[in-house]
Amino acid sequence: MTNHLWSLAGIHEHLAFMELARKVYRHAAVESLLLFCVAFQIFSGLWLVIRGWKQRVGAVAWIQALSGCVLAFFLAVHVSAVLFGRTVLALDTNFYYAAAGMHVSPYEFFFAPYYFLAVLALFTHLGCAAYWLLQSSALKTRRWAVGLAMLAGAAVSTLLVLSLAGKLQPFEVPARYKATYAHPDG
Ligand code: HEM
Repeated sequence: MTNHLWSLAGIHEHLAFMELARKVYRHAAVESLLLFCVAFQIFSGLWLVIRGWKQRVGAVAWIQALSGCVLAFFLAVHVSAVLFGRTVLALDTNFYYAAAGMHVSPYEFFFAPYYFLAVLALFTHLGCAAYWLLQSSALKTRRWAVGLAMLAGAAVSTLLVLSLAGKLQPFEVPARYKATYAHPDG
């Protein structure tokens, strides 16, 4: 999120920050662990959703399950797309790779809700975790934790989607990124 929020400071500033951050998260050992965690998160999360289907009671438990399912779908598609872009398309999977879909019609109708819901789901899921961790606090406080996390998620999502759409600062997506959405008949 820090990486992507950096784009609010400017695309070039974001790309420079990403180059630095990549030294950590793209280090072979770190990236292997990260990808293992992503796979574990998807499968263990879906298993928990299925296993607890009949026992789940209350809005927070269902919001947690729903946001987890959105995250599982997003992570599977998102990480596959990043790895595909890097290995098969031989592209630098940077800001332009993420933004390209928002600049080739009609794909923005998929990508805007896709990114928005992913970031909202992430914050919501963390808010639900806070709700269970705050067992000893008043119910009102615990509900506030979920509500505030969702509000923060909606705000961050909106900023990121606007940034990717070029509404906060104009930018041109290089043609090689847009070409990944080209139809065979042009
Ligand atoms: C607006 C929202 C998002 C955008 C624009 C975005 C964009 C990107 C981009 C461009 C990369 C490639 C990074 C690189 O090549 O160095 C990437 C990688 C990745 N993203 Fe996202 N992302 C978003 C949200 C998320 C969320 C919510 C999660 C997790 C819940 C996530 C998890 C990951 C992971 C695990 C990788 C793979 C890192 C790697 O192995 O190199 N992303 N994302």
